[in-house]
Amino acid sequence: MSWKLNCHADLMEQAMTRKILAMGAAPGLISLAGGMPAPESFPVAQIKEAAGKVLTDTPAAALQYGVSDGYMPLREWVSQDLEKRGVHYAPDQILITNGSQQAISLAAWVFLEDGAKLAVETPTYLAAISTFRPTGCDFVDMPCDCDGPIPEELYKVADARFAYVIPNFQNPAGLLISAKRRRAIAEAASELGLPIFEDNPYGDLYYDNEPPAPLAAVDPENTIYGGSFSKVLSPGMRVGYVACPKPVYKYFLNLKSAIDVHTNMLNQMIVHEVVKDGFLDNHLESVRSRYKVHRDAMAQALTKYMPKEAAWQTPSGGMFFWVTFPEGTDCTSLLDEAVKRGVAYVPGEAFYAIDPPTNSLRLSFVTVSVEQIDAGVKMLAELLS
Ligand SMILES: Cc1ncc(COP(=O)(O)O)c(C=O)c1O
Repeated sequence: MSWKLNCHADLMEQAMTRKILAMGAAPGLISLAGGMPAPESFPVAQIKEAAGKVLTDTPAAALQYGVSDGYMPLREWVSQDLEKRGVHYAPDQILITNGSQQAISLAAWVFLEDGAKLAVETPTYLAAISTFRPTGCDFVDMPCDCDGPIPEELYKVADARFAYVIPNFQNPAGLLISAKRRRAIAEAASELGLPIFEDNPYGDLYYDNEPPAPLAAVDPENTIYGGSFSKVLSPGMRVGYVACPKPVYKYFLNLKSAIDVHTNMLNQMIVHEVVKDGFLDNHLESVRSRYKVHRDAMAQALTKYMPKEAAWQTPSGGMFFWVTFPEGTDCTSLLDEAVKRGVAYVPGEAFYAIDPPTNSLRLSFVTVSVEQIDAGVKMLAELLS
């Protein structure tokens, strides 16, 4: 049988994402690869109680089909939460999605097509690259420095359909864009007519200072904003959202409805029940203090063991360290040997949409113990020395 596939089917390459998830599950392996939250951070008791309440009080709504936009009380909660961050989107501009991954995916199919330009940071989130690529779009690198995209140079990518930016504790590089730079990026993009997709799954995971207001605070009419409950409650529940300027909202909604009708009603209602009375305030305090200990342990282990040629910056939030080695180091080929020795990481190559170098890697510090961090970084340093 010869199947006649979509001409872009071969671009649907998810091999690295699947490999990372599999490595996280391998027994005995110290996986510094995964991008998963620590299971100890899941508020199991609150989710259980909320599930019981939802199924007792409103079983018909929870188990019935719902509207494609999402559960209105949750959309209202998201709108108010964004308002507290200085971002104004009305509830009818918020679409509840199957994780923020779906928000990215909707943006891909609403805006991109063969040959359309898409501006990305270099490096950037690998599963976003995998989502954008099958549209046939042309990736263009946004000129960036250590404070993110350079506003004065955005004109070079002004003909892109949008710019995909992760301002808080970027995956994979861990960078946080400063308040001044955010304003300048948002203003330059508005002037150029370059829409921004602001992806913010990590903003609440800060270990030093709270991040500045989102780019969307400057010009929500030019910004599509993706958010998620994955890193603050549970990724398995798959509840995220996208906030859109009014003129494009209907395209996101139409596509969402064609793809999967709506996000799981029961989960949306449970998430709302958990968050509605301020639960996240205390919960996030405890997640942050837990992850900060792990972040510090990894910073210490890297300083203790890594060869002097290795370079990294300690992230002030999020889940990842990004480590760069001298040119010519092949972190991609070394992965199999690292796994044989008992430690896994993600080769940096996976985070480049174009011309990937091989001399970097991403290490996650949240699902492993402090002892595993020390042992894993030591093994890696021995391999890379
Ligand atoms: C930058 C970024 N965006 C989006 C996502 C997707 O998260 P979710 O779909 O679980 O909300 C992730 C997950 O790791 C991520 O790192």
